[in-house]
Amino acid sequence: MGAIIPLSFSILLLLAVSNPTLASKDCDFPAIFNLGASNSDTGGLSASFTPVPWPYGISYFHMQGGRYSDGRLIIDFIANSLGLPFIHPYLDSIRANFSHGANFATAGSTIRRPNTTIFQSGLSPFSLDVQLGQFNQFKKRSQWAYNREGVFTELLPKGDFFSRALYTFDIGQNDITADYYLNMTAAQVSATLTAILDKFAAVLKDVYEQGGRSFWIHNTGPLGCLAFVLDPRNFTKDQLDQVGCAIPLNELAQNFNKRLNQTVVQLRKDLPLAAFTYVDVYSAKYNLFKQPEKYGFEHPLMVCCGTGGKYNFNGNARCGDFIVVNGIETIVGACKDPSARINWDGVHYTDAANEWVFKQIADGAFSNPPIPLRMACHKEINHSTPAIRRHLRLVQPRACEPSPISPPSPISLTHPSPSPLSAENPRSPSLSIPPSPSLSPLRRAAPAEHQPRRTLHIPHLCTSLVSFGISLTLTVSLASTSSPSLSRSRTHTLREIPEESEAQTVTLK
Ligand SMILES: *[C@@H]1O[C@H](CO)[C@@H](O)[C@H](O)[C@H]1NC(C)=O
Ligand SMILES: *[C@@H]1O[C@H](CO)[C@@H](O)[C@H](O)[C@H]1NC(C)=O
Ligand SMILES: *[C@@H]1O[C@H](CO)[C@@H](O)[C@H](O)[C@H]1NC(C)=O
Ligand SMILES: *[C@@H]1O[C@H](CO)[C@@H](O)[C@H](O)[C@H]1NC(C)=O
Ligand SMILES: *[C@@H]1O[C@H](CO)[C@@H](O)[C@H](O)[C@H]1NC(C)=O
Ligand SMILES: *[C@@H]1O[C@H](CO)[C@@H](O)[C@H](O)[C@H]1NC(C)=O
Repeated sequence: MGAIIPLSFSILLLLAVSNPTLASKDCDFPAIFNLGASNSDTGGLSASFTPVPWPYGISYFHMQGGRYSDGRLIIDFIANSLGLPFIHPYLDSIRANFSHGANFATAGSTIRRPNTTIFQSGLSPFSLDVQLGQFNQFKKRSQWAYNREGVFTELLPKGDFFSRALYTFDIGQNDITADYYLNMTAAQVSATLTAILDKFAAVLKDVYEQGGRSFWIHNTGPLGCLAFVLDPRNFTKDQLDQVGCAIPLNELAQNFNKRLNQTVVQLRKDLPLAAFTYVDVYSAKYNLFKQPEKYGFEHPLMVCCGTGGKYNFNGNARCGDFIVVNGIETIVGACKDPSARINWDGVHYTDAANEWVFKQIADGAFSNPPIPLRMACHKEINHSTPAIRRHLRLVQPRACEPSPISPPSPISLTHPSPSPLSAENPRSPSLSIPPSPSLSPLRRAAPAEHQPRRTLHIPHLCTSLVSFGISLTLTVSLASTSSPSLSRSRTHTLREIPEESEAQTVTLK
C-alpha cells in the first residue's frame, strides 16, 4: 500500500428554497387554465348559447369577440403579458387551439350549482364543478390525442404544461348577486358563504391533486357600483356611498372576499407545494370608480352600451338588443368613446377599464403575497406552517441508496443555530431550511484518515430534496484543507420534484 496522505474535508451545503425575495426569476408559464364567470369568459357561453351581439367587441376585435366587453378581458391581458396567445374557450369548437391552455369560464357561472335553468335565471349550467369536470376530461383526453401526434401536437398542450401552468380563477359574483341576501341575517349570509367557499376550496384541491401548482385567484369586484344592481332597486340616500355605489351590495362583496382570502390562507396550509396568489381586484376597481378623472375615465356609474334610466341602463333593453324607437327598429348601441368609460353594458367592464385594472394588479401591488404575475409560481415558505413541518417529517425515514464508495459512517450535518423545526423535533435531521432567505451554511469535518471520495451520499439531504415540490438550489462543496487541488464545488437546481420521485443523489466530479 502506498502512503496515505492525511486529508481533512469540510462539506459546505447551501440550501436555498425558492421564494419571492430570493428567487426573482420569471416563471415561464407555458399555459393558462382559467375557471370562472363572465369577467373571464373568452367565448364559452357565446359559443354554447346565443353569440354575444354587436356592438360587443367593437373597440378591439371589430367584430363580436365572444366576450362580455367591447374588447379584451383581464385574462386576455394576463395571457399576452406572459407571452401567450388568448386562451381559447373549451366550449368553442371553431378554430380551437389549446396549445397554451384552455378557458372553462362561462358568463353567468356560479361556484355552487344553480337550481334554475339559464332560461329562467340567466345562470350558466357550467358551474365551477362542471368546469372542473371539463378540465379533468380535457387533461386526460388531450394527452391521449397529443401522444398520437399528428396535428394534435400543435393544438393541444404538452403533458408537462399542466404542472407548469398558471391556474386562474375569477368566480363568485354570480353566487352573491341574488336579492335574497339583502333580507338575510348576518348568520344566514355567513352560513351561505361557508357553503360557497367550501365548494371553491374543494375544486382547487382537486386541481392541485392533478398537479396544479400555481394559482392566481381574483376576488370579486364592487358589485354595488354596477348599474344592473343599482337600477332596479331604489336604494335610499344613506345606502349609497360618496361614489354612488350601493353599500349593502359592496359590503356583501367584501364579506365574500374576506372569506375567500381566509379560504386561500387555509389552502396554502393544506396544499403546501403550491403557490397561491390572492388578488384584490375589488380594491383596484373601486379605486377607479372613486377617482375616474385621475385615470382618464368619466361618468363612472353610467353604462356605455345601454339606454334609458338614471344609469343609461334598462334591464329589458340591453346592449345589442333590438328596440323600437318612434316606430323605427334600432339596436341598443355604444357610447361615443368607450375608452373613457368603466362600465360597458351595466354588468361588465370596458376594454379600457380591464386594461387599467390589469396594469394595477400585474406587479403584485394588490396581491397577497405581493409578487408579480410573472413570478406567481414562487412560493413564500413559512417554515412554521404545520403542513410544511409535517411534510418534512414524513420523508425523513427515506434515505439514499447505499453507494459503493459511501462514507464509512453516516454523515451528520449540523446547523449553526437551531431552527424551529429541529428545536421542536430534536430527533429530526438537523439539516433544515433556513428561516430567513439568507443562505445557511452547514458544516461537517470528515475524519482525517479517509481518502478523497468522488461520490457522496448524504441521506438526510436526499430526503430533504425529495420533500419539496418546488425549486431548490443546492450547492455542495468538497474542500480539502491539505490539498486544495482536490476541492470541488457544484450547484444543482432542481425544479418541481414530484412527490413520488426517488431520492436524489449528489455526485461530485
Ligand atoms: C339549491 O337548492 C338547494 C335545496 O333547496 C339548496 O340547499 C341550495 O342552497 C340551492 N343552491 C343555490 C345556489 O341556491
Ligand atoms: C396553435 O397555436 C400555437 C401558438 O400560437 C402555434 O404555435 C400553433 O402552430 C397553432 N396550431 C395550429 C395548428 O395552427
Ligand atoms: C325582502 O324583504 C322585503 C320586506 O320584508 C320583501 O318585500 C321582499 O320581497 C324580500 N325580498 C326577497 C328577495 O325575499
Ligand atoms: C323607485 O322610486 C321611484 C321614485 O320614487 C318610483 O317611481 C319607482 O316605482 C320605484 N321603483 C321601485 C322598484 O320601487
Ligand atoms: C388576506 O389575509 C392575509 C393573512 O391573514 C392578510 O395579511 C391580508 O391583509 C388579507 N388581504 C386582504 C385583501 O384582506
Ligand atoms: C406561519 O405559520 C404559523 C403557523 O401556522 C403562523 O402562526 C404564522 O403567522 C405564519 N407566519 C406568516 C408570516 O405567515
